[in-house]
Amino acid sequence: MRIGVLTGGGDCPGLNATIRSIVIQGEKEGYEIIGFMDGWAGVLENRWQKLTEEEVEDIHREGGTILFTSRTNPYKETKGLERVKDTLKKNRIDALVAIGGNDTLGVAKRLCDEGIKIVGIPKTVDNDLSATDYASGFDTAINIAVEAMDRLHSTARSHHRVMVVEIMGRHAGWMTLEAGIGGGAHIILIPEVPFDLDEVCRTLMERKDAGKNYSMVAVAEGAKAAKGSKFLTQEVVKEAKTDAFGNILLGGVGEALAKEVASRTGLETRSVILGHLQRGGSPSAFDRFLATRFGIKAVELIKEGKFGEMVSLKGTDIISVPLKDAVERTRYVPVDWYNRLVGPFWGK
Ligand code: F6P
Repeated sequence: MRIGVLTGGGDCPGLNATIRSIVIQGEKEGYEIIGFMDGWAGVLENRWQKLTEEEVEDIHREGGTILFTSRTNPYKETKGLERVKDTLKKNRIDALVAIGGNDTLGVAKRLCDEGIKIVGIPKTVDNDLSATDYASGFDTAINIAVEAMDRLHSTARSHHRVMVVEIMGRHAGWMTLEAGIGGGAHIILIPEVPFDLDEVCRTLMERKDAGKNYSMVAVAEGAKAAKGSKFLTQEVVKEAKTDAFGNILLGGVGEALAKEVASRTGLETRSVILGHLQRGGSPSAFDRFLATRFGIKAVELIKEGKFGEMVSLKGTDIISVPLKDAVERTRYVPVDWYNRLVGPFWGK
């Protein structure tokens, strides 16, 4: 059996641990593993490399992906489906493992519907894939954000400043919610709950009046103000151009918010965009373990002939779910979760 593997979409820590696990478990089953380069681009262009246990032995601790990645969408390319089928036929690929988020696995689902044998593995720092409690990469990313916030606390406190920290996550607030709580933010703003700028400013002033001479605000890159506000009612976009999946590049809400807060309250305010720092570097132990379990389960699914499925973490168990369930809708932070978790810290 020949298995193709690819990593698509934004990179994140844990991809190499997943690749390693697939190769080691696959070889145990007597399978030959080949890695397509640059996500779906490698499948379209027939670019791949053979992967052996020797090559992947030590890669679990490395960030990024040895197979590289791209946001290429075969369905946006001329004769995309035909070219994918050609490559798989030419290389006698029996099954594919697609490691990705909503976009990559969305393509995997469509290709499955065309009869291609695919198993999906969830990875995304945004943790916005439905049908899994965690995707690999998320844990490392929030730990990086928490460490950054710990550092920002001491400088904010020393200068009696408001520090606004912008956190990734696109339209979902998971990273900001979890890193914001872990990092001790006093105000946490997520896309799912449009914020009230007056309330943000009032809370900051109340903290100051109570003798708390600094504040941390965690704001998701996709956060926006509630309708009716005169300010920031649209997501702040860094680049208007969309990628092949229709995603827009967000960025800048932290700086805009910091300026507005400073002008309304007179408090000295600074902003930091954590950006791609959250995606780089070595994966956490949690992500290495999760990625390894996902890889093993994916090979088991192939052995059982269960295609069109995605491996998933439910509680502490690794299970599989239809790819359809994972990609048909984005997983957002439930508003009641937010209110219950964040409310106590700023008196909502
Ligand atoms: O989906 C992962 C993610 O890191 C988002 O949180 C962020 O909005 C986006 O990717 C950034 O994309 P790029 O890598 O193209 O800058």
